Amino acid sequence: MEPIRIGVIGLGWRSGVVRYWHQPEGRSVVVAGADIDPVRLDKFRERINPDAYTTLDYREMLARPDIDAVVITSPDHCHEEHAVAALRAGKHVYCEKPLHITVEGCDRILEAWRESGKHFMIGFNMRYMNMYRTMKEIIDAGEIGEVKAVWVRHFVGLGSDYYYHSWHANSRNTTSLLLQKASHDFDIIHWLTGQYTRKVAAFGALDYFGGDKPNDLTCPTCDERATCPEFRSGPLVKCAFRREVDVEDNSTVLMELDRGVKATYMQCHFTPDYQRNYTIIGTEGRIENSETENRVYLKSRRSGTWRDLSDRIYEIKASEGTHNGADPKICNDFLDVILHGKEPIAPPIAGRMSVAVGCAAAESMRSGGQPIVLQKPEPWMLASSIHKVGQH
Ligand SMILES: NC(=O)c1ccc[n+]([C@@H]2O[C@H](COP(=O)([O-])OP(=O)(O)OC[C@H]3O[C@@H](n4cnc5c(N)ncnc54)[C@H](O)[C@@H]3O)[C@@H](O)[C@H]2O)c1
Repeated sequence: MEPIRIGVIGLGWRSGVVRYWHQPEGRSVVVAGADIDPVRLDKFRERINPDAYTTLDYREMLARPDIDAVVITSPDHCHEEHAVAALRAGKHVYCEKPLHITVEGCDRILEAWRESGKHFMIGFNMRYMNMYRTMKEIIDAGEIGEVKAVWVRHFVGLGSDYYYHSWHANSRNTTSLLLQKASHDFDIIHWLTGQYTRKVAAFGALDYFGGDKPNDLTCPTCDERATCPEFRSGPLVKCAFRREVDVEDNSTVLMELDRGVKATYMQCHFTPDYQRNYTIIGTEGRIENSETENRVYLKSRRSGTWRDLSDRIYEIKASEGTHNGADPKICNDFLDVILHGKEPIAPPIAGRMSVAVGCAAAESMRSGGQPIVLQKPEPWMLASSIHKVGQH
């Protein structure tokens, strides 16, 4: 069988993931890349495939009949344009999270997917991490009874490294870091509980980053570089205290899910450490993960049942590959979706629903914390896969 031929739009940091698709002896090859920055085109050929076709205009790449599937790793606000164009050009699409920066944009992507007859996957690689899969298995096995509460604390100690020194820090590009960063977590909350969010209220502010520095100031050219705690030598060097920075660095989101689960998600970008701490409470016990120890703890309620017998600790196995081994697995799954019509672990609607939470939370946070009821998706969007049989 001929390998699936893949083109990539947006050749920055995340595009490194495409190395898992470049298997000249295997099921797929990465044969083309598009970016508006010529330096990125050179780096892409160096890193991935010296013979790849590269272009500054992604439309030229989409016009090529020898490309079967397109991977979108451009900035969030470009996802709608790139995904819709790729689907209309008859390509299967893998789009990075968040699906887009507006719910309307997500809906237009889903509409283009429906019309295209092609396969579509959202890059929710957290669903492929051993840690979160273990937690999902424990919950699905009924070990903690019926889930009633989810508490997520997200310590984004890399806030300055990845978010405030770059395009991510401006709402024009992201709407909010509750989409850019938390879209993974809203999705994991939905996945673990089997429920989508129906109501949201949020509070947040820019408590540390942002300020009155010029928008064109960079760390290497700054007079305060010797003393600034956020000085970075690269690759992301925009001043983290520049005027245009307008996305909250400290936020708390309250969610009510479809069947009554109460969830909270807290995100802070100036913590010393980087980790996600999930607690899921059911009627018969609770689980809690520790990313630093690579463990999940299961605590049972002392309710006079067999659950009294023990609490348990799950040691999470390490997996080869980036994002704790999730990236090679999600890449492999995309090929199975195309070749064998496999249901993606995260259906396209999941991308839309997590964006809907992020957008509603941003709106609530910016208008005094008022509760917002989410607009329901069209029923057809809830189908996990419209196109069953894979052809490429
Ligand atoms: N799932 C994950 O674990 C994960 C991790 C990191 C990033 N991401 C997602 O990947 C995407 C890219 O993030 P990144 O960190 O690589 O950003 P980046 O800034 O490093 O790369 C983006 C690239 O897109 C290019 N670009 C910008 N506008 C373009 C356009 N109109 N047409 C073509 N190319 C364009 C830029 O020149 C740049 O090379 C984001 O949506 C981000 O949320 C996902």
